[in-house]
Amino acid sequence: MKLFVVFSIFLVAIYGLPFSGLNRLPETSPSDKPPCNADASNAYLDILLMIDTSSNMGSSNLKKISTTMALISSKFTIGQQTDYSTTKNTRVAVITYADQATITANFTNINSANDLVNVLNGISVSNTKQANLTDAFVKAYTVIANCTLPDDDFCPPFAYPLRPVATILFAATSNGVDLDGVDHFINVEAAFEYQTIITVNFNSADQTLTKILNNMTYNYQVNASMYNYQSSSGSLTQNLQWALLQVNCFCRDADNFVYFDTTINQYSKVAQCLGLAVFLYDDENGIEDMCTVNDIAVQSVPAFILSTEKQKFIESSYIGKIVWPNPEQSEPIYPAYFGLHKNSQGQWMFYNYNGSDFVPSNFINWGPGYPDPSHSCAVLNSHDNMTYVWESVGCEPSGTGDLLAICQAPACDTSSLACCSYCNGGLFEDKETLRSKMRKRRELKRLNHGMSIRVNK
Ligand SMILES: *[C@@H]1O[C@H](CO)[C@@H](O)[C@H](O)[C@H]1NC(C)=O
Ligand SMILES: *[C@@H]1O[C@H](CO)[C@@H](O)[C@H](O)[C@H]1NC(C)=O
Ligand SMILES: *[C@@H]1O[C@H](CO)[C@@H](O)[C@H](O)[C@H]1NC(C)=O
Ligand SMILES: *[C@@H]1O[C@H](CO)[C@@H](O)[C@H](O)[C@H]1NC(C)=O
Ligand SMILES: *[C@@H]1O[C@H](CO)[C@@H](O)[C@H](O)[C@H]1NC(C)=O
Ligand SMILES: *[C@@H]1O[C@H](CO)[C@@H](O)[C@H](O)[C@H]1NC(C)=O
Ligand SMILES: *[C@@H]1O[C@H](CO)[C@@H](O)[C@H](O)[C@H]1NC(C)=O
Repeated sequence: MKLFVVFSIFLVAIYGLPFSGLNRLPETSPSDKPPCNADASNAYLDILLMIDTSSNMGSSNLKKISTTMALISSKFTIGQQTDYSTTKNTRVAVITYADQATITANFTNINSANDLVNVLNGISVSNTKQANLTDAFVKAYTVIANCTLPDDDFCPPFAYPLRPVATILFAATSNGVDLDGVDHFINVEAAFEYQTIITVNFNSADQTLTKILNNMTYNYQVNASMYNYQSSSGSLTQNLQWALLQVNCFCRDADNFVYFDTTINQYSKVAQCLGLAVFLYDDENGIEDMCTVNDIAVQSVPAFILSTEKQKFIESSYIGKIVWPNPEQSEPIYPAYFGLHKNSQGQWMFYNYNGSDFVPSNFINWGPGYPDPSHSCAVLNSHDNMTYVWESVGCEPSGTGDLLAICQAPACDTSSLACCSYCNGGLFEDKETLRSKMRKRRELKRLNHGMSIRVNK
């Protein structure tokens, strides 16, 4: 293997090593929509309840929050262990905010569903109308990062969490809310790297609040808000519980495929990760290696596309996005290899996670004039910078000069830690590496409106 040093930074989609007991088995029948596991008792996320206690909330609404969370938390195993490779539990903390925010309970204060209910029943409405949501995020930062000041210099590097974090925001007013300040915490601060925001609107007559909550839950990949609920919804409890399990269905260094699930009428993540690999090696082993660089990505394979929804999601995730943190070095994300290839009998096949091949579905998207019989691999290419077509090419990246690949791997969920190589035997990667990597990833995410690409150094 010869190394082409192109840039000092290279990006790869990296997925986890399997380890005994916890790893998802290869999907028996390859699907674009493997559901996220729904066993709440095995969840291992951190839940931050952020409760607006300004006078707009009203005490009957606080009661409703308490009864709703009592029902939900009884399904989860509430505890304090952070290392989910050994003990899976859900941690809960409560932050209330009016003109100022207060950490009403940190993770160590709540050890059971009962503790949570006691904390929630002890909350009362304040007499101020103002709601300083930015301050709530400042306090949340200190809870998640386990430190006292919301400043990198004062938060020790070991404080960065690698547990998925769900913030459920129960909001009753836009009065005093500074969206730019909140946006900074949602999109810039590394402590919130694995945070997902779930919102419950207690004041739909407040149009500014409605806009703010839409903004906070907006997902650029599907051009829609997700996990954004009304307090009056008859299925609020059910929806919040489902959303928490969605948060516990995640990809470390890539993005879950998201589609509109018509059975529940909501956008839904599936237990499958998509990521971009940028290949800097002239590799004799061809495209399969593009998704398994660094010996970490045992279960990562060039992506298969079996449905229009996944094709569209890949288009909206990658076309027109930036590969390198420096926009001047950017290049369009096409052509990019994916999993379509010819087997030894000359049939077009996709790679399965377990190394075997399988036949494509009815969804076939060859561009005009393709496939060329002399080719054995395929790329996603674009001629309009908006849609991808499938085009056949040679299988050697060094021969074609196409050094990008769209890869996929199983996600982590309550039944699996498949996405996370360093979860085994400790939650923390090398601290400084992690810190610097997170900064670069967030920078790219900002440039790319939410698409994460792994930055590997
Ligand atoms: C891989 O999984 C498929 C089922 O999807 C199975 O038919 C095949 O035998 C497996 N191959 C290997 C090498 O385990
Ligand atoms: C949690 O709050 C208690 C006070 O209720 C405090 O003594 C403890 O230090 C806090 N723990 C952390 C990790 O901040
Ligand atoms: C809201 O909280 C932030 C962060 O603590 C603070 O900087 C800001 O001054 C507060 N805003 C108001 C209006 O009190
Ligand atoms: C939080 O920080 C304290 C020291 O400030 C430490 O003793 C404790 O173990 C930390 N908790 C976690 C979960 O990292
Ligand atoms: C959300 O608000 C932030 C801060 O004002 C803004 O930069 C961003 O573009 C908004 N996003 C959407 C989807 O409206
Ligand atoms: C996103 O959705 C809005 C409607 O919700 C629509 O007006 C807009 O054209 C969509 N943008 C794209 C890029 O599809
Ligand atoms: C593709 O479209 C994006 C906007 O979606 C734009 O920023 C980019 O410059 C376009 N690239 C090319 C090669 O036209």
